[in-house]
Amino acid sequence: MPRTVIVQPPGGFDHVIMSDQPTRAPAHGEIRVRLHASSLNYHDYAVVSGMWGPTVPRIPMADGAGEVVEVGAGVSEFAPGDRVVSTFFPTWLGGAPEVIGFTTVPGDGVDGYAREEVTAPATSFTHAPRGWSHAEAATLTTAGLTAWRALFVDDAVKPGDTVLVQGTGGVSIFALQFAKMAGATVIATSSSAAKLERLRALGADHVINYRENPQWGTTAWELTGGRGVDHIIEVGGPATLAQSMAAIRVAGHISVIGILTGVAGQLEVVPMLLKQFRLQGVLVGSRADQHAMVRAVEGNGIRPVIDRSFALEEIVAAFRHQESNRHFGKICLEF
Ligand SMILES: NC(=O)c1ccc[n+]([C@@H]2O[C@H](COP(=O)([O-])OP(=O)(O)OC[C@H]3O[C@@H](n4cnc5c(N)ncnc54)[C@H](OP(=O)(O)O)[C@@H]3O)[C@@H](O)[C@H]2O)c1
Repeated sequence: MPRTVIVQPPGGFDHVIMSDQPTRAPAHGEIRVRLHASSLNYHDYAVVSGMWGPTVPRIPMADGAGEVVEVGAGVSEFAPGDRVVSTFFPTWLGGAPEVIGFTTVPGDGVDGYAREEVTAPATSFTHAPRGWSHAEAATLTTAGLTAWRALFVDDAVKPGDTVLVQGTGGVSIFALQFAKMAGATVIATSSSAAKLERLRALGADHVINYRENPQWGTTAWELTGGRGVDHIIEVGGPATLAQSMAAIRVAGHISVIGILTGVAGQLEVVPMLLKQFRLQGVLVGSRADQHAMVRAVEGNGIRPVIDRSFALEEIVAAFRHQESNRHFGKICLEF
């Protein structure tokens, strides 16, 4: 029987168990998928670690990639053997955002993909990019699509624009790669000299150590010759927003994505009025956005940066690795 990870309420690393759970045959409109990989996100960490732990036993992980093994009646988009990747919002198929929070999200409000097999509506998956490993494909569901939406759905990054990305986590590295794909100049920050070197090797045009330089936003502004940064991938939250506001150009776009420095803080309103920028909250993206992203990465030869992979039963060790902040890019589970 397929091996499955379950997080018992209220969550916490000592509430993670392995179990064998049967999978049912697909009903009308459903597919059965042999999953082979998942990838870790901060949101999954919050569920598994108990920070936002489950109230019922929950199969964690929003990201899942694998191979279709059976299709139900009425499914024409997929056939057995197709390689697929899960969607973050199985019910948000396209258009403007129409979901609030995480009640429909696999691994949080509903069961996720830390398991060897799943039967789900076909709309819970898209095709994976051709030639990608399952682990590579799994990185797209959350981190890839968030970066994609920020730069190309909520904004339209163009050649010659400047994009600033914070830190070397999954979202920021995808954003760096997507911004270079669009011909933008990238300013990247990190707390580590070694990681700054790796950012340069990935194409970052300018790098700033945010730990050594607390005024990194002002430095970024100066690097643009006083025009300001067009687009900022804001993953830090309350403690980084003021510097993002220092870096942004007049009428620029800040994608408010992450909470790495906490969930609440003080907001200076006056700089917003003076610079007239957009502060846009982001929660991943739609299935249609994922289709567009898959097409783009296939056509541009982009490959995700995977730091390290763990086995399914090593899920707690994988989250401990994420907790250490030693990673660069994505941490995956392969099974
Ligand atoms: N809204 C959404 O749709 C959405 C989707 C995905 C993720 N997120 C959020 O975005 C954030 C990042 O997610 P992720 O999966 O990319 O995380 P991750 O892979 O765990 O990234 C962590 C990295 O962020 C960097 N970092 C930490 N504190 C920082 C700070 N004060 N300033 C700049 N960088 C800092 C560090 O980079 P260095 O080691 O290089 O310093 C660290 O390695 C999380 O808060 C997550 O919840 C939101």
